[in-house]
Amino acid sequence: MQSRPTNTVLVWDLPTRITHWLLALSFLGAYVTSGEDDWQTVHFMLGYTMLGLAAFRIIWGLMGSRYARFGDFVAGPAKALSYLRSLHSSQPQHYVGHNPAGGLAILALLGLIILTGASGFMHYKELAGEWMEELHQVLGNVLLTVVIIHILAVIASSRLHKENLARAMVTGYKQGEQKDAITAASKALGIVILLAVLGFWASYYTQEANAPKHHDAKQQHDDD
Ligand code: HEM
Ligand code: HEM
Repeated sequence: MQSRPTNTVLVWDLPTRITHWLLALSFLGAYVTSGEDDWQTVHFMLGYTMLGLAAFRIIWGLMGSRYARFGDFVAGPAKALSYLRSLHSSQPQHYVGHNPAGGLAILALLGLIILTGASGFMHYKELAGEWMEELHQVLGNVLLTVVIIHILAVIASSRLHKENLARAMVTGYKQGEQKDAITAASKALGIVILLAVLGFWASYYTQEANAPKHHDAKQQHDDD
């Protein structure tokens, strides 16, 4: 936390930004395709994508650049409350990276993505009873609720700090002093993540589109 700087400096590396926007896009896609039989392949594909991206984000939280690390933004509820209280004061606390309340939301989002994806997979593979389908639906909707809170918090925080946080997640630049800047954007890794996801989509979609549907295959077998 520090007083308001006037400079802008690089804060979010490219892997963090690419992962974020791929997660947001995949969530939107997974949510609108859920429950639609014709779009099941896309639903599964985007669900797996979210699982992969969340797994990468956890690794990046341990070895990524300064503000991407859990150590930078994971704080206890006391710090989160102190931050939230300061928002009502004349001098709201400002963080160059994630604020402590946002940090808790990030943990909730990543945890829910993993639980939702895992329950969807277990239901699809029939690894548990019907309750798994219900659990998957509930988790999907809890995730949606947290995402809506996340977006409202981003809007509120942007207004309060007079800084467009969504644009910062695109450009990587936020208000900060030169000493706060990260030194490398890790561009190559960001591009590798983007290409890996696009490659996965292309191969998964073509494979599934060409594969006989489970019930068609069974029908064929019964006909024989
Ligand atoms: C993490 C991202 C995911 C989200 C947000 C999500 C969300 C949802 C939601 C809200 C439903 C309920 C649809 C309804 O009301 O009937 C649903 C259904 C379902 N999901 Fe997911 N899901 C995700 C990942 C997955 C994955 C990875 C799989 C399996 C590979 C999967 C398999 C299913 C299946 C089999 C159903 C029920 C059948 C269907 O309606 O298509 N989901 N999902
Ligand atoms: C249009 C929708 C969205 C917008 C505008 C948005 C915007 C943002 C912004 C501005 C941040 C950085 C907050 C800060 O400065 O501390 C952020 C972080 C984050 N958002 Fe979103 N978000 C959106 C949707 C989503 C969705 C759908 C998910 C997940 C399902 C998500 C997951 C995350 C995560 C995990 C972070 C932490 C970023 C990191 O350090 O890796 N966001 N979001």
